[in-house]
Amino acid sequence: MTFKTIDQAGDLTGKRAQVRVDFNLPMQDGKVSDDTRLRAALPTIRALSLRGAKVVLLAHFDRPKGKRVESMSLKPVVQPLADLLQQPVAFADDCVGPDAAKVVDGLENGGVALLENLRFHRGEEANDGDFADELAKLGDLYVNDAFSAAHRAHASTEAIAHRLPAYAGLAMERELDALEAALGNPKRPVIGIVGGSKVSTKLDLLKNLVTKLDKLAIGGGMANTFLYAQGHDVGASYCEKDLAETAREIVRLAGQNNCKLFLPLDIVVAEKMQPGAPARVRGLGEVDEHERILDAGPETVARLKRAIDNSHTLIWNGPIGVFEMPPFDKGTVEAAQHAAALAKAGKLIAVAGGGDTVSALHHAGVAADFTFVSTAGGAFLEWMEGKPLPGVKALDV
Ligand code: 3PG
Repeated sequence: MTFKTIDQAGDLTGKRAQVRVDFNLPMQDGKVSDDTRLRAALPTIRALSLRGAKVVLLAHFDRPKGKRVESMSLKPVVQPLADLLQQPVAFADDCVGPDAAKVVDGLENGGVALLENLRFHRGEEANDGDFADELAKLGDLYVNDAFSAAHRAHASTEAIAHRLPAYAGLAMERELDALEAALGNPKRPVIGIVGGSKVSTKLDLLKNLVTKLDKLAIGGGMANTFLYAQGHDVGASYCEKDLAETAREIVRLAGQNNCKLFLPLDIVVAEKMQPGAPARVRGLGEVDEHERILDAGPETVARLKRAIDNSHTLIWNGPIGVFEMPPFDKGTVEAAQHAAALAKAGKLIAVAGGGDTVSALHHAGVAADFTFVSTAGGAFLEWMEGKPLPGVKALDV
């Protein structure tokens, strides 16, 4: 797909640039507790502001379902954003109508305003044309910088893009370039690592990946289902036994598409899922009935590292063990550090995304060395599933 970038937006002096950002931030006691998404939006806001645009930020927070819910106001975001930008941020109590218009009209060139939660209006999630018209009245151009909300066909991500000249923001552009490099048109061989506990939430993803990748390593709790499907005893491990046939189908599909599948060769087990619980390495089929599989074994990790060495691109979603509970973080940490070192040396394009994956890479201390780490949750998964993202599609020219 092709999209216009803000470099192509021409003279922006005095123009109202409506920027869709994702400020759906973790909050604790009404305060922003993780400002990663605020920081991600800064380059675009600064670039537009420096070019003399009036920057009008559109965002949602949580799921108020079309009505005003004070605890879901975006107001607590204003000060942290102003601190990061080092400039004042105006706030409008509504995202459409006279209150919003007044705040937008009051902006000087280069000024920044945040409008109240879009989802206080039913029209937002309904992708309603009239609501999009109201939003578009407050802008001369539209910039989407919220990849992580692009899987939603909402008025501020979809309909508005057809009403104003539409551009991808800098964060969106970076994300799309990284994803294209990882899956759209990757430097081969390309290997995937998919972990996490449930096969059931990643069926579409696995089915799509086996048609696109040269190699796919399956880890985490979901690998148990594959092991069980192949006749191995998994003891007291988490396992979706009813999905055994689906797991076999994915194995068949991988074979038909020449995607080499890597399932665990050995595993780390414990009787209790607790930090510091005594851990043992077991071969397949050696798991006692009281034991639970909690990490990939050393042989499995060594083989995974070799497979990464022999690849040019890695795409990673989901930890391969219970990384939150050492010592069961070992497999994930070792594989992550290995991939990160190769990426840092310019030998591997390493892209990762999805909630737990980001935490796992931070835990391993290597998130900064990956080529790209997406903070998008649902949008990253849907993209890995091969589904078109409405917010991205709407930018297509
Ligand atoms: C996210 O946090 O993943 C996005 O902001 C989308 O939020 P939603 O799942 O409520 O649409």
